This record gives sequence, structure tokens and C-alpha cells, in this order.
Amino acid sequence: MKVLITGGAGFIGSNFIYYMQEKYPDYYIVCLDALTYAGNFETLEHAMKKSNFRFVKGNIADRESVFKLFEEEGFNIVINFAAESHVDRSIKDPEIFLKANVLGTQVLLDAAKEYGVDRFHQVSTDEVYGELPIDRPDLFFTEDTPLQCSSPYSASKASADLLTFSYYKTYKLPISISRCSNNYGPYHFPEKLIPLMITRALYEQPLPVYGDGNNVRDWLYVEDHCRAIDLIIHKGRVGEVYNVGGHNEKTNLEVVKLILKELNKPESLINFVADRPGHDLRYAIDPSKIQLELGWQPETLFSEGISKTIRWYLDNSKWWKSIVNGEYRQYYERMYKEK
Ligand code: NAD
Ligand code: DAU
Repeated sequence: MKVLITGGAGFIGSNFIYYMQEKYPDYYIVCLDALTYAGNFETLEHAMKKSNFRFVKGNIADRESVFKLFEEEGFNIVINFAAESHVDRSIKDPEIFLKANVLGTQVLLDAAKEYGVDRFHQVSTDEVYGELPIDRPDLFFTEDTPLQCSSPYSASKASADLLTFSYYKTYKLPISISRCSNNYGPYHFPEKLIPLMITRALYEQPLPVYGDGNNVRDWLYVEDHCRAIDLIIHKGRVGEVYNVGGHNEKTNLEVVKLILKELNKPESLINFVADRPGHDLRYAIDPSKIQLELGWQPETLFSEGISKTIRWYLDNSKWWKSIVNGEYRQYYERMYKEK
């Protein structure tokens, strides 16, 4: 089996590569990644040791080199993780999100159509559904919830989903789409809530919580997401969307306080800052479809997953310190200057 994993030098893509290498040692895996600020070649250090793994540095929107790669390799399965993924950055600069997430996906779809694949899987997000009210805990996102995007990031992901589906309807390309809730775990770039709070708490720096901290996210340990994608690409129905989430809703403040408690740091580090424009109130996934059809269940409880994640950041400080000491510091100052 020849598998193309795009965006594999980022957070979820790299976890997925390690998951696949362990579960399917005979699969030949190619990772295509542009190594943007969010991609880190060091993350793939162990994957590179396998002879049936190839890393290609390249942009998914670069039609000529993507087509060349498809022609050379003849992939059976393509899984598209590559994307600009940070909502705050999309608010400052939407255009790169459209180029990578929409036009990049289109190039991959065209290549898959031209050279033929058994499955093209688009890794999407629950953010395409917009927000749910906080005072209606009975409401969840299902696969039929209308798309209603709040940020340029989510609009770009929804556009890519629609485009992916159109290649199924029009060209009969065997696609599937997964829409997962917030992931956490190893190799999570420290601009996102959980790794940002862990790494700043370790330095006893103020922890910027947007608004009143009562926005709700539905957290899933990254390995549970990887298992869901594995099931979808091997057993999921073509042309279908599968929501992925583990009914694990927490307010941001709950998450931040838990991290501080685990690290034995004071809550006085919490610093309420100006809210994110268009900040979605609550995400919550109804995962019934993937549970009933494919037998997927989350395996990691949040209390267990957050401890494992904090332990990983303590044990792998070299990985994140090289990030927070570099260009990232200027990014942080720029991004939070007005907050
Ligand atoms: P990430 O930002 O950590 O990694 C993205 C990777 O894509 C990086 O390695 C980057 O170099 C690469 N990339 C970006 N633009 C590229 C381009 N034009 N060509 C080639 N490579 C490019 O993101 P992540 O958090 O790992 O998210 C992966 C995917 O999962 C994204 O599509 C995202 O929308 C989706 N998703 C993320 C979450 C989450 O909680 N992080 C939840 C649901 C869905
Ligand atoms: O739901 C899936 C999505 O989850 C993915 O599609 C995105 O790629 C991923 O980045 C994530 O989006 P969020 O916007 O939910 O994640 P983020 O970590 O940026 O923020 C989580 C919550 O924490 C959100 O309510 C905003 C808040 N927040 C975030 C940051 C960075 C803060 O309060 N302070 C911060 O400094």
C-alpha cells in the first residue's frame, strides 16, 4: 500500500505517521510538507529511520511538483492534513489560508483524479459548523449541521470540504471527509491553547486567556483522532463525512486551571486579555455516526491525556524550546501586543 500524507511535519500529521508506521509496518509512506513555521523536520526524526518512508519538501499548491510526485509514486491512499491551521493567524492574514487550504486541496484533488487513487481523505474540522450556544448543552454538531463559518480559517476549511465533495459527485473520485474537534498531545505547536499554556506556565509567564475564559472546546487526544482516520480510510464509506469527537467539553478556564494544578503553578498567572474577534462560543461533536458505523470510541480520558501531554512537554523541552526561542517570540509579541 502506498500512502501520501500531506502536512506530516505538523502536529496531527506527524502523530498519524507514527501511528501508521507502528500499525502498518509494511505500508510505504510518503510525507509531503512545505515546512512552514508550523512544520518541523525534527519531529519526523524517528520516522526517517524507516526505509519505507520518504519525506518530500514541497507545497501542496505547487501543481507541477505535486503531479510529478503522483506520477512517480502511484499512491493508493492520500490523506490531506496540510493546512494553515491557526485561527488567530487567519484573522490577521486570510490570504495564505485560501492559498494553502483551498487551492492546495484543489491541486491534490486534481492530481488524485489524474493518476487515480483508491481513497482521497480530507482532514477537516468541526469549526466548519460555526458555534453552539453555551446554555444549550443538549445541542451537538452532526454531519447534517449546516456549515456556518466564523473565521477565515474555518471558511477555508469548509471551502476545501465542498470542493472535495464536488470531485466525488462530478468525477467519482473516492473521497471521504472527517471533521474532528480540538486535538491535544505531543508535537502540538505552542501557539495553540494547551501547549501555549504549558510552556508559558513552565516559565511562570502570564497565561493569556481570551475574554472571560468561558468558551467551550471539545478535546480529543490526538491518537484517538489517528485511529478514527485509520478506520475511515480503510472501512469508511466513500462520499461520506464523519464527525470525530469524544464528548469531552471543557471551558478554556477549566483547561488552564488544570494545567496550572498539574504543574503546581499559581492561578495568579492567568491573565484575561481581549477576546478573539468572532470567537466561537462552544464546539461539541455528536460522534454517533463513526461509533455506530465503524465502531470507533475514544480511548484516552482527558485527565489521563493531559497528564501524558504535560509529561511529554517536560521530557521534550528541546523540541519546543527551539521553537519558543526563535522567530516565534516575535510572533507572540506581535499577536498579543494589542490584547
Ligand atoms: P499544524 O499547523 O500543526 O500542521 C500543518 C502542517 O501542514 C505543517 O507541517 C505545515 O508545514 C504543513 N503545511 C501548511 N501549508 C502547507 C502547504 N501549502 N503545503 C504543504 N504543507 C503545508 O496543523 P494540525 O493542527 O496538525 O492540523 C492538521 C490538519 O488537521 C489541518 O488540516 C487542520 O485543519 C485539521 N484539524 C486540526 C485540529 C486541531 O485541533 N489541531 C482539529 C481538527 C482538524
Ligand atoms: O476545533 C478544531 C480546531 O481546533 C482546529 O480546526 C484548529 O486548527 C485548531 O487550531 C483548534 O482551533 P481553536 O481556535 O479552537 O484552538 P486554539 O488552541 O487556538 O484555541 C482554543 C481556545 O482557547 C479558543 O476558545 C481560544 C482560546 N485561547 C486560545 C489562545 C491561543 C485563549 O484563550 N488564549 C490563547 O492564547
